[in-house]
Amino acid sequence: MSLIFKSMKTIISKNEKDTFKLGLSWGKKSQGGDVFILCGDLGAGKTKLLQGLAQGLGVKSRVNSPTFNILKIYKSLGKVKYFCHIDAYRLQSEHDLIALGIEEFFNSPETVTAIEWGEKIKKIWPKNAKIIKIKHLSLNKREITII
Ligand SMILES: Nc1ncnc2c1ncn2[C@@H]1O[C@H](COP(=O)(O)OP(=O)(O)O)[C@@H](O)[C@H]1O
Ligand SMILES: [Mg+2]
Repeated sequence: MSLIFKSMKTIISKNEKDTFKLGLSWGKKSQGGDVFILCGDLGAGKTKLLQGLAQGLGVKSRVNSPTFNILKIYKSLGKVKYFCHIDAYRLQSEHDLIALGIEEFFNSPETVTAIEWGEKIKKIWPKNAKIIKIKHLSLNKREITII
């Protein structure tokens, strides 16, 4: 696993580009089976970060918030074959995700998974997950903490 995840770290993002670029750098370093759990309110920048992450993985199509879908799978042209994007906002409970077969994605060596509104599914956070908290500081400033 890359060095940046070995201890808690806080990054201040000054604008949406900073957040995108951070995601981009993580995407380039990610491996199949990696799971990113994003916690933070509406407009924090979860999707922005994941748009960068997806590009870093080699996803060519545009990544949007999957709010109405819960789960969306993108093909990647990189070494990781799929990017699984989940939005837990509308879920009643963890069971809904388990019913969708989410745990298979967590263990797939071909897939990187990212979950927005991760706070909602704490009970099924995989042990290896990278927990990312994004806090809204001001109009364009965000505090991004990696746990
Ligand atoms: N530093 C920043 N990082 C990320 N987004 C930012 C930042 N500053 C402003 N924004 C804006 O905040 C919004 C974040 O939206 P989005 O990524 O969809 O949030 P979320 O998925 O957490 O609801 C975007 O409109 C983006 O332009
Ligand atoms: Mg979003």
